[in-house]
Amino acid sequence: MTAQLPARKPARPFFSSGPCAKPPGYALEKLATESLGRSHRAKIGKTRLQYCIDLMREVLGLPDTHRIGIVPGSDTGAFEMAMWTMLGARPVTTLAWESFGEGWVTDAAKQLKLDPTVLRADYGQLPDLGAIDWSNDVLFTWNGTTSGVRVPNADFIPADREGLSFADATSAVFAYDIDWSKIDVATFSWQKVLGGEGGHGVLILGPRAVERLETYTPAWPLPKVFRLVSKGKLAEGVFKGETINTPSMLAVEDAIFALEWAKGLGGLTGLQARSNANAAALNKIVEERSWLSHLCADAATRSTTSVCLSVEGADEAFIKAMAGALEKEGAAFDIAGYRDAPPGLRIWCGATVNVEDIEALGPWLDWAYATTKAA
Ligand SMILES: Cc1ncc(COP(=O)(O)O)c(C=O)c1O
Repeated sequence: MTAQLPARKPARPFFSSGPCAKPPGYALEKLATESLGRSHRAKIGKTRLQYCIDLMREVLGLPDTHRIGIVPGSDTGAFEMAMWTMLGARPVTTLAWESFGEGWVTDAAKQLKLDPTVLRADYGQLPDLGAIDWSNDVLFTWNGTTSGVRVPNADFIPADREGLSFADATSAVFAYDIDWSKIDVATFSWQKVLGGEGGHGVLILGPRAVERLETYTPAWPLPKVFRLVSKGKLAEGVFKGETINTPSMLAVEDAIFALEWAKGLGGLTGLQARSNANAAALNKIVEERSWLSHLCADAATRSTTSVCLSVEGADEAFIKAMAGALEKEGAAFDIAGYRDAPPGLRIWCGATVNVEDIEALGPWLDWAYATTKAA
């Protein structure tokens, strides 16, 4: 180990877990701007919103059984819209193994007062997925961004479930294979794997979710931005680019740029190949260093997007100093773990990150570790 500055810096030192790095080659000037300064209900606006929806469907490989729409409030808005409009019809189970899953537990228990069954696990672990009662509606986070733990696949969701499955899939879509037949509700935001902007969420509804919306009215009031049903029927316009309220067309154009980039890579498989290569390169760095380890010990449930690492002997102050030193040198931005997670590093390995930049990070981690230890 050496405290000398490494020779080569990551060219794009953007390893934040959200908002994530922009797609390689991104520049504001490259965005289409014809729809800006126009009504989003004019033909140009509606056409671009529909095009964005079509691209998402194509790149995700989303089957025709599922609707996909753009909603307010980023991933949180989309997930809470689903919770507030559909929960309460049957008992609820919420799964939590990190901060965002805990957030949905809080919503269900303290705000909606649904007295949910909660299946929990510590940071780095997954709860017992076999213990889920699927006569309940079940809420889970596909990829826990703050612990780097994900569900391995959708095999734990039975095809003949009585309840609905709700997946917060914001750090999972465009990175993993998702068996959509097992998903009744999924949500995400462009700011993650696509490297897009926050502000808008994306809501995916399977047929059983639509049935719930059309046959069940929750006991609590719904603000306008959550209303998906009109006169007992699904507001189909939301899934055709007729947004509930005014969207940011700039954010939409930004998402279109990312989706066209993704399509150019071959779509989902191209995105997955990039993310998997990044995660493998980071894993090699971890394996070569005795002082670095994965927070999630089990490779089968370890994230390949938000990879969380433990640093031997490091407390919060150590991590802060280490990440701060890397930031000061312009070698790595935003890699300190999430504020509620155990002290550690978190390095985004989604598709918008280039593998050579992950590779170049290894010597910089050595440098930052040695420098911080010596201080
Ligand atoms: C798993 C998960 N859920 C929800 C959110 C909140 O997303 P947003 O800020 O887009 O609403 C995040 C953001 O990091 C997340 O990682």
